Amino acid sequence: MPTLFGKRVLLGISAGIAAYKSAQLARLLKKSGCEVRVVMTEGAQTFITPLTLQALTGEAVRTSLLDPEAEAGMGHIELARWAEMILVAPATADLMARLAHGHADDLLTTLCLASEAECVMAPAMNQAMWRHPATQANAATLRTLGWRLLGPDGGEQACGDVGPGRMREPDALIAELSMAPEDAPSSMAPEGAPSSTAPDVAPAVRDADTLRVTITAGPTHEALDPVRYLSNHSSGKMGYALAEAWARRGARVRLISGPVALATPPEVERVDVTSASEMLTAAEHVAAESDIFIGCAAVADYRAEHVAEHKLKKTDASETMTLTLVKNPDIVAEIAARSPRPLVVGFAAETRDVERYARDKLTRKGMDMIVANDVSQAGLGFGADDNAALLLWRDGDDTDSQALPPQPKTTLADAIVDRVLTLYAHRAPTAHD
Ligand code: PMT
Repeated sequence: MPTLFGKRVLLGISAGIAAYKSAQLARLLKKSGCEVRVVMTEGAQTFITPLTLQALTGEAVRTSLLDPEAEAGMGHIELARWAEMILVAPATADLMARLAHGHADDLLTTLCLASEAECVMAPAMNQAMWRHPATQANAATLRTLGWRLLGPDGGEQACGDVGPGRMREPDALIAELSMAPEDAPSSMAPEGAPSSTAPDVAPAVRDADTLRVTITAGPTHEALDPVRYLSNHSSGKMGYALAEAWARRGARVRLISGPVALATPPEVERVDVTSASEMLTAAEHVAAESDIFIGCAAVADYRAEHVAEHKLKKTDASETMTLTLVKNPDIVAEIAARSPRPLVVGFAAETRDVERYARDKLTRKGMDMIVANDVSQAGLGFGADDNAALLLWRDGDDTDSQALPPQPKTTLADAIVDRVLTLYAHRAPTAHD
């Protein structure tokens, strides 16, 4: 394992609220035996003073390219040559953009351009700024230019948003900097993951960063009276596994959940509903802001025509009770009928003729893809931890398919995400615009 001891580190600080963490980072770098010199952008000095960093490093802090006094000591080109590692933390969206495009309009960007040192940055910004395609393109450019990006982490942000954009914690950065770049990613949290919960089943790939995904999950409860309802055996596990898989890939996930006993996956926005009508209202509310809509919920097809105001009483006079049921709205079909509309993926829970019924639902409900599962198989489907599926999707006038063997719902969810992403990438622009 490479050590930080004796390394000459130039710590660059740009103008983000996370700049307060840079003080701790400077302290830990010193503690690890690094020689540390600090360069701050003008904006960074509104968040933390140069004096604080000077006190922690024992070195004068550089803030200006055109500072004759500083140039009289170690000039900026000498400083660029001195550094063995440039660590920019926090790296704001603006600084990333300037570095990605080779700007040299202040001391920090000039040093980065003039140096041949190892370059590392810890991005930190609002989650929407991080997800923005411009920032993602800049991040990709920076990686091709040789920058190593550590983070950002996900979680609650200073602005009140929740999502990827938090600067990775100083002790986690020190741990990663102590590793060779090729050793670091697999054991460290991927970008956007909450700092304390590294996922255990996921590929550390963020290929859905700009997508907004809405998922329905669990059963619905259709009231008969104040104490009884119609429902089914859905536990929500499949839909929650999908929500978690999409969030891990960087998507902004909204989970519209029927009544289940599951914890909300990290980074997922959850809306709780009870009945099919409530689920439809919630789905319609966010449909226009969704790129992908996945109907995994086991929605009750019927509800009571009249919900009794008081508990229904049994009578001695009759051995039977007749309930009149009316059809519930079909949520997936309603979302698929909108224009413009998201890419729509539904599920089919079948106990026989799985493929035939699923093909029929795919067409009849106007979906782009359907995930068919045979819920008659023991240990799979409703309530189980495992599932198997047949994916069917439209390919022009034809239908294409992929069979996914029995496996944990967590890994099945990842395979479904992969297929949906491919489908989304090939989607005709007119379908979504
Ligand atoms: O929750 P788990 O215990 O993990 O179980 C997972 C599951 C078996 C529930 C899941 O894999 C599944 O198959 N979900 C869909 C169940 C279902 O209701 O299938 P369906 O064939 O009845 O409906 C077809 C599609 O239309 C589904 O996408 C469903 O969400 C949708 N639908 C159905 C009726 C309705 N009124 N509105 C709808 O949107």
